[in-house]
Amino acid sequence: MCGVAGYIGGRAAYPLLVEALQRMEYRGYDSAGVAVIQKGRFALRKAPGRVEALSRAVGAGRDTAGTAGIAHTRWATHGAPTEANAHPHLDCSGRVAVIHNGIIENFAQIKKRLAKRHRFRSETDSEVIAHLLEDRWGDDLLAALASLRSTLKGQYAVVAAHAERPDTILMIRSGPPLLVGLGDGETFLASDLAALLPHTPRIVTLEDGDGGWITRTGCALVDRTGRPVRRAVQTIRWEAEKAEKGGHPHYMLKEILEQPETLLAAFTDRLSVQTGEASFSEPGVEQLLAGPIDRVVLAACGTAWHASLVARYWIEDFARLAASAELASELRYARPVLDRRTLVVAVSQSGETADTLACVRLARAKGARILAVVNVQGSTLSREADAAVWMRAGLEIGVAATKTYLAQLAALFLMALRLGRARRTLPPARARQLAREASALSGQVAEAFTLRPEIQRLARRFVRERCANFMFVGRGVNFPTALEGALKLKEITYRHAEGYGAGEMKHGPLALVDPHLGVIAVCMKGEDLYDKTLSNLEEIRTRGARLVVVTNASDFPAAPGDVVLGVKSRNPETSPFVATVPLQLLAYELAAALRCDIDKPRNLAKSVTVE
Ligand code: G6P
Repeated sequence: MCGVAGYIGGRAAYPLLVEALQRMEYRGYDSAGVAVIQKGRFALRKAPGRVEALSRAVGAGRDTAGTAGIAHTRWATHGAPTEANAHPHLDCSGRVAVIHNGIIENFAQIKKRLAKRHRFRSETDSEVIAHLLEDRWGDDLLAALASLRSTLKGQYAVVAAHAERPDTILMIRSGPPLLVGLGDGETFLASDLAALLPHTPRIVTLEDGDGGWITRTGCALVDRTGRPVRRAVQTIRWEAEKAEKGGHPHYMLKEILEQPETLLAAFTDRLSVQTGEASFSEPGVEQLLAGPIDRVVLAACGTAWHASLVARYWIEDFARLAASAELASELRYARPVLDRRTLVVAVSQSGETADTLACVRLARAKGARILAVVNVQGSTLSREADAAVWMRAGLEIGVAATKTYLAQLAALFLMALRLGRARRTLPPARARQLAREASALSGQVAEAFTLRPEIQRLARRFVRERCANFMFVGRGVNFPTALEGALKLKEITYRHAEGYGAGEMKHGPLALVDPHLGVIAVCMKGEDLYDKTLSNLEEIRTRGARLVVVTNASDFPAAPGDVVLGVKSRNPETSPFVATVPLQLLAYELAAALRCDIDKPRNLAKSVTVE
């Protein structure tokens, strides 16, 4: 949610900063802006819309010479996505430029106080920071940081530059991430590793509350009390090919097609087909899972919540432990009963989702143990949890999560298996059978790709028939699959889609059914609920709907007009992995047929660092 970048070094800052914004654009794409220091003043360029619009407006980098600067790509919170509201924001003198990721909750009071002496040009909460620094940026940078810390309330990653001090870029973090990349005679700063790693593997992650500055030769940091601190320099390998589309028209398609590989990576060296045992080598995970646990509470948002919903079934089934999957945005404001014997599992691709982090802090205050299931190593969640299981999905760039969903499912499946074996509630023979199925998933997912031509035809039909409303239904472990199918479709096609438990249709949604409603059902043979789901589908057909059915049943009783998308899955417990894939492809192909902006759907961002 907003990407910030900074650079000081010997090279031209403008192209480096624009490239950094492009690599972080999935954090928000309402507007973009760059401020480069040029002989005591800023060359400031801003444009509403994508980074590409900024590049077009600036042309070949005209009048942007300079070797230090800051840049921002915005996901609008306060103020419409206009040029005036685009960052960087300047103070009245034009000497201080500020970029910000987060929300300043007390900006209205600050603005009121400053309005007498300062001229505001935007409607944003962020502009107050530039005016605060105008009064404070003297020789004592520590005092400037301390005053920001004591004045600003909310979540912020703030980066600021002074036109007359091209040797220093100021930064402070309270919430959203900030990372420094140490180069050779040059230093980079960004919200995301993706913007730093193409230039340097040497990364310093600011801890929450840290502030400081970068110079050409490195960074200086103080903690939240103003005490100088050193944070470890990590060396992180960059998989350049993961950041490219690899010949595919969109990152989303590339990431869908990477899923067989994602599953292999998730299970390798963690699962034994011979013994049915799962194990984790990440520090502290085994101890947490073997500890005294009465209950598991999973907390997550969006797609990660859907994975948590599936995991709830697995944990209760394999480990006979009470489990619930909670929306982090709700749980954080509820009064949950959590104690030392509750294992809180926080699931997050980015590890930076504000609501999920708030749940972790709430759980910690109540004495619960916290296990993170996370993709981004070094993220706030991975550092705040008692232990972290890595999703091993690699970089995901498409805003709509695909391969990270399957990676979350895989990590949670292993966790449930481990809990089941540790508690002796999962007999060895069943554990071996589940492990065998898990090891076959990669191939089953790859086979599901052969459905693509059929799904393309289906997408074209939906466009031809102007189908504007969709209902996804499933039961049991595939109820969350239906929710995820609906989420993917609405995210990237902007068509109305709902996910429902098939058994719930008669409690309201059946009223929506007519021949114009697109109904997509997941109906897997082997599930206890297979026959029940067939009856639910018949009730839908009777009301005039034509169905699209994802099923593993070779003898599925299709009616005329049904489209059957056959998948291979021998086992009900692992069927969500496979059943999800045709739904991802359907959302993708429909969005492609509708010419939607698949990798950057409107109004969304990949990493949601504000409430
Ligand atoms: C945003 C993304 C979703 C993601 C959700 C949770 O809404 O667009 O794809 O599922 O945040 O993100 P997390 O990083 O915590 O998994």
